Amino acid sequence: MMAPGLRLMEGETSLFILGIDTSCDDTSVGIVRDGVGVLSSVVSSQEDLHSRYGGVVPEIASRNHLAMMIPVLTEALRKAGLTLGEIAAVAVTQGPGLMGSLLVGVTFGKSLAAGLGIPIIAVNHLEAHVYSSFLDRGVPEFPLLCLVVSGGHSDLILMEGHGKYLVLGITRDDAPGEVFDKVGRELGLDYPGGPHMDVVAEEGNARAFQFPIPKVSGGPFDMSFSGLKTRALLAIRSSGKTEETVRNLSASFREAVVEVLEMKLEEALREFHPRTVAVTGGVSRNRLLRERVKQLGGKYGVPVLLPQPQYCTDNGAMVASCGYFRLQRGQVASYDINAIADLELKSWEDDEP
Ligand code: KG4
Ligand code: ZN
Repeated sequence: MMAPGLRLMEGETSLFILGIDTSCDDTSVGIVRDGVGVLSSVVSSQEDLHSRYGGVVPEIASRNHLAMMIPVLTEALRKAGLTLGEIAAVAVTQGPGLMGSLLVGVTFGKSLAAGLGIPIIAVNHLEAHVYSSFLDRGVPEFPLLCLVVSGGHSDLILMEGHGKYLVLGITRDDAPGEVFDKVGRELGLDYPGGPHMDVVAEEGNARAFQFPIPKVSGGPFDMSFSGLKTRALLAIRSSGKTEETVRNLSASFREAVVEVLEMKLEEALREFHPRTVAVTGGVSRNRLLRERVKQLGGKYGVPVLLPQPQYCTDNGAMVASCGYFRLQRGQVASYDINAIADLELKSWEDDEP
């Protein structure tokens, strides 16, 4: 059966890849046609379950992945209008992430692939975030300078082609999403704090609190956010939590975090002259960041790719996208793959399959 809305030219065949991500607290399955066309992207969020604890509780996360895996898969197939028999390969996030959570997705994914007799493709969660910017858009011109900013990462990556990565810089301490969530919690906002701070910041004065740009030891493109977090926490404790403080601190803190990211992106743009710039990961939903990155692209005449909001946060479609390009280059894993909690992003373009 053909998926709704898809038309094939005579003699042309499409490959449908099913992608699974259970790296943290979202159970997600996406089905993607030929690497970039999203047929379905189903995400079961556990936000409500973790919010009362103010952060992700690993055991609750893995137990719920187990409960939600089949319903999410069924819904993804239904929305795509496909049956399992039409799936060409299964791609799954192997790491990095929470071990117990990753294990559910990896075990499920490889069992599904083995049962269907189709390839299993192991994907790095960070590279999946890079590919999220291609979804429903197409493959951009390389080299691509991509900033992945999420609850666990702040990575500046130069992608020279499929599977060719140079990690230019990382955070030396906390990730931007993590500091938004911690400061948001101290402000009394619901978990995760990042999106809530983004909303209240719109009404605040970004110059009300001063946050000096942190100095970072390490590589020239490394970043640091824990100093900003500590300053924010101290400021909240000394100013109290009036509505005005919540608004102004959110605005000032957002401005400071975005300034750090913008500065690093600009330095990398000047040094590496990429053909395209992308910002991805949960924090790329941030309104101020999106605005500033577009301005930066305009200043340097470089096209900017910002994923649609639903593809910024964790989803299976971005895993399927990367899986397609890996499959095309013979990057198939064996059925005995395991989850790797601290999996590093490495180039695979020249690997023996
Ligand atoms: O990519 P993601 O879904 O999961 C990880 O791999 O970490 O990112 C989740 C993070 C959370 O920390 C959340 O607060 C942050 O993305 N986030 C935001 C916004 N929307 C989500 N941070 C700032 N502004 C937003 N609008
Ligand atoms: Zn993520």
